[in-house]
Amino acid sequence: MAAMEKHTAAKHHHLAAMRHIAQARKVDSFLAMDVLAAANQREAAGEATYHLEVGQPGAPTPQSVRDAISATLADGRIGYTEAAGTKALRQRIARHYADQYGQSVDPARVMVTTGSSASFSLAFLLLCDPGDRIALPRPGYPAYRNIVRALGLEPVEIDLDPDSGWVLTPEALAKHHDDVPIRAVLIASPNNPTGTVMPPQAIEKLASYCKQAGIWYISDEIYHGLVFDGEQCCALSFDEDAIIINSFSKYYCMTGWRIGWMILPERLVRGAEALAQNLFICAPSLSQTAALAAFDATDELETIKAGYAANRQRLLQTQEVLGLAGGPPPDGAFYMYWPVQTLLRPGETSVALCDSLLAETGIAITPGNDFDPVHGDGFVRVSFAGSQETISEAADLFEHWAKRRSNRL
Ligand SMILES: Cc1ncc(COP(=O)(O)O)c(C=O)c1O
Repeated sequence: MAAMEKHTAAKHHHLAAMRHIAQARKVDSFLAMDVLAAANQREAAGEATYHLEVGQPGAPTPQSVRDAISATLADGRIGYTEAAGTKALRQRIARHYADQYGQSVDPARVMVTTGSSASFSLAFLLLCDPGDRIALPRPGYPAYRNIVRALGLEPVEIDLDPDSGWVLTPEALAKHHDDVPIRAVLIASPNNPTGTVMPPQAIEKLASYCKQAGIWYISDEIYHGLVFDGEQCCALSFDEDAIIINSFSKYYCMTGWRIGWMILPERLVRGAEALAQNLFICAPSLSQTAALAAFDATDELETIKAGYAANRQRLLQTQEVLGLAGGPPPDGAFYMYWPVQTLLRPGETSVALCDSLLAETGIAITPGNDFDPVHGDGFVRVSFAGSQETISEAADLFEHWAKRRSNRL
């Protein structure tokens, strides 16, 4: 009997162990998406709702891009492509670097991916061994730290300061690197959520420190094309080994097509290709056809960008009226990152403030905690990627609500 019971107990133990879920790689949810869900619920109930929470263009994908796929759709053969993407798209992306930045990029170094999101995973898997440390400026795009964690790497978040323009300095990075070596740093310029565009000299200083310290420079350039002030600069100008990540999601208004790209040093291409073959096979082929056409949709896209520029001016006015400037003006992307301490009631969090704002006005914005779990409470991120009508109505309503809150009405 004892042998039988022992066997059963061992079997149960084994089964229970099989059901164990890895704890170390658990990641946080994305608060912006939680706010979106609440705003959608309100909208479905027929109440006026203003979406300033999600970072996606309010405008549809350009008509010419949608037209470009009609022949492929009619043909119906929508199959796999090579893992790195179609030759035509890789060549067109390479040409974009010559046109935009005067950089000569061999199309063989271009890898087309499922949004920029897949590029991050590929880059980390290519460059890192388990447990490696990745430096991430804070505040920053929340998925960075979550992808890093999910891959069994260690995010090293480095606090940025509005007084120094929300820019990561080599000195701040060196402090952490000297402690325990950092494998790579991931920089987004323009930045989400601050909208900061790093001046070329700041990129040059950081990139040259990285080169000398043996740290990979990964540059998220997803908000390129959306610079309103300051100079847009590709990190390849200062480091030929920089890993450039970009996407059709933002400037090109193609979030749902899940299509992006990366530029790699030649020696990493074969490894990236093998990883992509196994992890993703390829990026969606229909989206690759659409992406090719996106480079010729400049007129439509520049009109949309002019709308963002007007939205930005309107919200800078709100910022001024309510005294919400928390650093340099956002020169790029389509976000404002506002310190809202003056609007918080005693003990209230940014999450609660965003809840109240949505319930009382229908305006959805994102709590700063998403972008900075340590100091983000007291900040909110406002996206101005919506239509001019939406942003202007929301700005009026927000000003009124904020003044009432701080007893200025
Ligand atoms: C800074 C930044 N990088 C990357 C992404 C991911 O974009 P996608 O995977 O659609 O290219 C986002 C999306 O909001 C972002 O803000």
